[in-house]
Amino acid sequence: MNKKRVYSGIRATGRLHLGNYFGAVKGMLALQDKYDCIFSVVDSHTITVPYDPKTLKQSVREIILDYLAAGLDPKKCNLEIQSKVPQHTELAYLLSTIYPVSRLEDLPTYKEKKAQYPKYINMGLLYYPVLMAADVLLYKAELVPVGIDQEPHLEVMREIARKFNSMFGQTFPEPQRFKTEGDYVPSLAGGRKMSKSIEGSFINLNDDLETIRKRIAGASTDSGQIGGEVPKEGGVANLFKLLKLFKLNNEFNKFEQDYETKKIRYTELKEVLVQAIYKELQPFQERRKKFEEDSKLVDDIINASNRKCLQMAEETMREVREKMGLD
Ligand code: TRP
Repeated sequence: MNKKRVYSGIRATGRLHLGNYFGAVKGMLALQDKYDCIFSVVDSHTITVPYDPKTLKQSVREIILDYLAAGLDPKKCNLEIQSKVPQHTELAYLLSTIYPVSRLEDLPTYKEKKAQYPKYINMGLLYYPVLMAADVLLYKAELVPVGIDQEPHLEVMREIARKFNSMFGQTFPEPQRFKTEGDYVPSLAGGRKMSKSIEGSFINLNDDLETIRKRIAGASTDSGQIGGEVPKEGGVANLFKLLKLFKLNNEFNKFEQDYETKKIRYTELKEVLVQAIYKELQPFQERRKKFEEDSKLVDDIINASNRKCLQMAEETMREVREKMGLD
């Protein structure tokens, strides 16, 4: 039986942090064994918001290195750099001709970006979901492991697939969002999610023991009262969620009891977390160093993977051009 195809991508906005690692990359790791996967660095999406062209290429490389160090294995999955497969933009243009502008203007992600960058409202931003649809449809992927915030984009993707199929004949599957084993990592700043754009909320994948300790020391615990039940939200809740994320169940129970009986010492809880995070990151950092030192190996991996992606992409494009009368 043919394996189902999976496509996912991460924008190239600098190195990944612990949140991306657990939220996205760990999910990818589990998928590469069971499915026919393409994991991309979506650099053409990255340039829809203000960015630095001098560092973009390096940012793309950093994510590829993070992918490899995390254990994505080019023998099991394809690693893609989106802009190196120009069929993405070709297909996006073709698909844009069958999709209404008004629908794109109504999307929450577009409205958010407009509010965030009022001086940078460009066509690419409006086009973002069409390019994303093209990313996935180009490979006829059926499953897309992304967070719930991407659901509106998935809906656009399915609408485009349906419309194309009805106009030009059955071509594309309707992709579904795929929930992976990955989990969201709580913020160290008391908010919900660890995020690169919130100072003090995240841990970088290259942080050493001392840096991890410093960041965790800064994590907020100002929940007011102690005693009673552990809160469900805020800094303290997030520290407990981190214990769960690292499967420190015994410690969780102990500190829960300490909290209830007002004996909790956050420095003690935090040190447990520091050690767990370091233990998780150290082997990753060692593997990453090996890849960093062997740029020829990484280039070879990227090139071999790119060749395969180009081939798959061109196959779909031949079909699409023919069906649209452009062959
Ligand atoms: N929009 C996604 C995000 O912000 C990134 C992305 C672009 C993507 N193209 C994709 C994700 C295709 C999955 C599939 O995270």
